[in-house]
Amino acid sequence: MILSAIWSLGDQVVALLDDNSEKHGMEIAGVPVICPKDAQLANPSTTGVIGIGDNRIRKQIATRFSFDWTAVVHPSALVDPSVVIGRGSVVMAGAIIQAGTQVGEHCIINTGATVDHDCRIGDFCHVAPGVHLAGHCELESGVLLGIGSCMVPAVRVGEWATIGAGAAVVNDVPAGVVAIGVPARPRFDL
Ligand SMILES: CC(C)(COP(=O)(O)OP(=O)(O)OC[C@H]1O[C@@H](n2cnc3c(N)ncnc32)[C@H](O)[C@@H]1OP(=O)(O)O)[C@@H](O)C(=O)NCCC(=O)NCCS
Repeated sequence: MILSAIWSLGDQVVALLDDNSEKHGMEIAGVPVICPKDAQLANPSTTGVIGIGDNRIRKQIATRFSFDWTAVVHPSALVDPSVVIGRGSVVMAGAIIQAGTQVGEHCIINTGATVDHDCRIGDFCHVAPGVHLAGHCELESGVLLGIGSCMVPAVRVGEWATIGAGAAVVNDVPAGVVAIGVPARPRFDL
């Protein structure tokens, strides 16, 4: 999907980096797969983006390699000019991000998600397809908002919490929990 977003922008992808040595020398969608270390040795200023959905793995990779991480915004996404998007973050097709919102580094704002005004999204978050955030919501680092979930205005989700698919966040959610349902409650409360 990130390949598609990059190509939609008219940019080229010179290589896909993968630790799995069995894939080295293969091509995926016509793009060669190479070893990450080789890529860094060849050109330490290579521009890159991490195509992995798992927030913790994305963080590990971002801290392990020193590429020139870049943000990718699909041309069909609507992003207000006042929005700040951190390096390495991707905004997928059809997403909408409204005025005054800040998106941290290495986040995914996935297909058709909407993030309304004045939200703050920490680093390494994943806002899955079809998620809706009302205004003034806050996500601390590493949060996953599962597909189709939503947040009412001005609620906050703590670090590395997971919100289940289809959940409705109507109160603050503590760090590290998995919260599901309507209204969303930490699973150990159910
Ligand atoms: C909430 C979630 C993280 C739980 O995953 P899990 O720990 O593997 O849970 P399980 O699938 O083992 O399900 C455990 C129980 O919770 C229920 N459950 C799971 N997800 C649920 C959800 N989103 N809402 C309500 N109940 C849910 C299951 O039906 C099951 O109930 P049971 O014990 O009565 O059978 C996961 O189901 C989810 O919603 N992930 C979101 C993934 C996503 O959207 N990713 C983005 C992709 S782009």
